[in-house]
Amino acid sequence: MARSWTPSSWQSLPAAQQPAWPQRPELDRALSQVNSFPPLVFAGEARSLQASLAQVVAGNAFLLQAGDCAESFDEFSANNIREKLRVILQMAVVLTYSMGVPVVKVGRMAGQFAKPRSSDTEMIGDLSIASFRGYIVNDPAATIEARTPNPERLVQAYHQSASTLNLLRAFTKGGFADLNRVHEWTQEFVGSSPEGQRYESIASEIERALQFMRACGVDTENNPSLHQVDVYTSHEALILEYEEALTRQDSLTGGWYDCSAHMLWIGERTRQLDGAHIEFLRGVGNPVGCKVGPGTSSDWVLELCQTLNPARIPGRLTLISRMGADNVEQELRPLLRAVHEAGHPVVWACDPMHGNTFTDPSGHKTRHFDSIIAEIAGFVRAHKAEGTWPGGIHIELTGEDVTECLGGADDLTSADLSTRYETVCDPRLNARQSLDLAFRVAELIRVSAGH
Ligand code: TRP
Ligand code: MN
Repeated sequence: MARSWTPSSWQSLPAAQQPAWPQRPELDRALSQVNSFPPLVFAGEARSLQASLAQVVAGNAFLLQAGDCAESFDEFSANNIREKLRVILQMAVVLTYSMGVPVVKVGRMAGQFAKPRSSDTEMIGDLSIASFRGYIVNDPAATIEARTPNPERLVQAYHQSASTLNLLRAFTKGGFADLNRVHEWTQEFVGSSPEGQRYESIASEIERALQFMRACGVDTENNPSLHQVDVYTSHEALILEYEEALTRQDSLTGGWYDCSAHMLWIGERTRQLDGAHIEFLRGVGNPVGCKVGPGTSSDWVLELCQTLNPARIPGRLTLISRMGADNVEQELRPLLRAVHEAGHPVVWACDPMHGNTFTDPSGHKTRHFDSIIAEIAGFVRAHKAEGTWPGGIHIELTGEDVTECLGGADDLTSADLSTRYETVCDPRLNARQSLDLAFRVAELIRVSAGH
């Protein structure tokens, strides 16, 4: 029944959201360069992530997937990466400590460049220009030249991913993520805030617990799990030529892996069952995700599970629900039931961002913190009602003190949005809002589990 798959078999199917590259020879040159570069991640790492995600499927772990909506070529610095990682580590500490289960950490980092758009073009005054499709394709400046897709950007995206990943590996394995430094991840603007103080008290408890273990004679010094973390990378697999160019055959197993990131997902706009994106991802051995928005039928979800995970490998498939706060409970329950009854092992994650986006009267695209929390609460209620595990969250955030999402502990208002609105795409939670969210999530799940 299954058609044969190759890294290029997607090419004979319709591919939504692909850029109109103007020059074929330049495109081919860029792709063969990327194809000649070393893999960014290794098959064995993708398999480790899949094994951790299998623990999430079983209800023994929780997935924290977080990072930028879209990474930028312009705001690319060690600082920027470190601040993002700090927030992710802080959230992970809060979730691990409060829920008492391991947290699987996956960044929307080191390759999250491509953006689907609702329209191919946009009007700037009375000029129609190509939409910005992410730095891997074009530049956000509103000129015809800047918006012309440039294949050189594929090469630049590879190099930026490689440096980001290099730094991420250094930070996560080289001491920065050591649990003994749990206090040091707090940034100044977070430290004084209520959620910052709440974090500080957990950090102190962890410090005391480590001290206690040492006093009991436990050798904490030589236990690497206290000193290092695994932070995996992920992005939306949108530009299929790029993904294909980084797809390699694993020498150990003979399987194909997309070595651009550990995990890849398919977006709401490119998840056609007979389309190129699903065709491409069904053949790679990485763990894969798929966004699931409002109006999705149970039949469709079951067919998706069958297509992307016919062997029913736990951890292979993550379904990322993005229903909107008002719809999530009623939309999700039938899907949870159908997947559960069919016996498909999936991670269910909640993306509370994309179903709650609106344009504020000031003209900024934004989201309200309360709707984000309300969607997670609805997600948890749906799982509670169906007896399934609310496996994780998928969040757009930054480590900076931006003002892009409304509400939160310092109650950002419409008038505050323009103070520091820096995103190149969707509005992100700032570091304080992110930490606050981690506490709320831990509470929601704890209460739902009756702890
Ligand atoms: N390695 C463990 C884990 O990843 C513990 C750990 C070390 C940790 N550093 C951390 C957990 C930083 C969260 C954040 O869970
Ligand atoms: Mn987004």
